[in-house]
Amino acid sequence: MKAAIIGSTGYGGAELIRLIQNHPFLEVGSLISTSRAGPVDKIYPHLSHLSSELQELDLDLLCENNDMVFLATPPGVSSQWTPLIAERGKIVIDLSGDFRLYPETYQAWYDKEPAPITWLKKAVYGLSEWFGRQVKDAQIISNPGCYPTAILLALLPLLQAKVLDISSIIIDAKSGVTGAGRGLQQGLLFTEVNENLRPYKVDGHQHIPEIERFASQVAGDSIYINFVPHLVPMNRGILVTIYAKLVKDCSNQVLKEIYQTIYEAAPFIRLCEGRWPETKHVQGSNYCDIAWHLNKRTGQVILLSAIDNLMKGAAGQAVQNANLRMGWPEETGLTFSPLFP
Ligand SMILES: NC(=O)c1ccc[n+]([C@@H]2O[C@H](COP(=O)([O-])OP(=O)(O)OC[C@H]3O[C@@H](n4cnc5c(N)ncnc54)[C@H](OP(=O)(O)O)[C@@H]3O)[C@@H](O)[C@H]2O)c1
Repeated sequence: MKAAIIGSTGYGGAELIRLIQNHPFLEVGSLISTSRAGPVDKIYPHLSHLSSELQELDLDLLCENNDMVFLATPPGVSSQWTPLIAERGKIVIDLSGDFRLYPETYQAWYDKEPAPITWLKKAVYGLSEWFGRQVKDAQIISNPGCYPTAILLALLPLLQAKVLDISSIIIDAKSGVTGAGRGLQQGLLFTEVNENLRPYKVDGHQHIPEIERFASQVAGDSIYINFVPHLVPMNRGILVTIYAKLVKDCSNQVLKEIYQTIYEAAPFIRLCEGRWPETKHVQGSNYCDIAWHLNKRTGQVILLSAIDNLMKGAAGQAVQNANLRMGWPEETGLTFSPLFP
């Protein structure tokens, strides 16, 4: 199947090209760029073994020449293009936040016009391990945000098991710089990021409503979280530490059984025992490493989760969703080991 990418010169787009090119059932189709033209290796020399050309967006041509379309575009783009592509019968996988929230919440947190409600209703949230069954029938797959992926994968098992005091959830997260995309920003200069650790959006990151929406859905109760992200001087990776009080007297063994039961058949979830998740252990791969620790002195549980933001947090999960949608084995094209050291 031919897969097109809109936003192909961004970090998410480049990672999609890398994955699709190695996928046995997908072929790199149209690579759309609004700002650049010519061979893709002019932008990305590491892809100089590919002969693809960047193209302007022509909707009819795009839908004629491709079976599936990935959008790796900033907020506010997919809400306009996805309906036009979907009504031409194509499968859309959107990496942006445009289809993850209710319209009024989207408007409040992204300060943009939401996608039309009829199309929003058709979108399925593609957190593969939790909503994979719905993804199988979806025409629009809304790929989760990078932080929500790392956080929800660690948190949802304990929410579903109803062992957490849901008013007590505190999330501390750290991300590498690619999480901010490839666009130029003064605050992302080497001199300002290197040897620095910076909290940002302490007053409200746009991933908060996404985490709260799907955490609430699984818990069956309204959840509000404290979430503070930090920028770390590294290229890729997210490490999340979650603190919450337990409402039930749980042993480490009970927690382990909850995670093992839920993720028994999940090829990309690695439950860590005898080690803690590290970004280096998942770099370049689609794995999410998860660990838990019971602090008996405080009665709190500490959850840790690590992903590569461009892989499980973006392009890797998008390809995993394409696999689920097409009925291919979930791991197709994604089974390589992390890059280490
Ligand atoms: N980076 C991550 O870790 C990550 C993780 C999960 C989700 N996401 C989400 O995925 C999306 C892409 O992220 P990214 O990191 O790849 O961003 P990026 O590096 O900034 O790339 C976005 C690309 O979108 C294209 N674009 C910009 N304005 C456009 C417009 N008005 N219409 C159409 N295309 C436009 C640009 O390519 P052209 O100039 O070539 O058109 C740009 O290279 C974002 O919504 C982001 O929130 C990112």
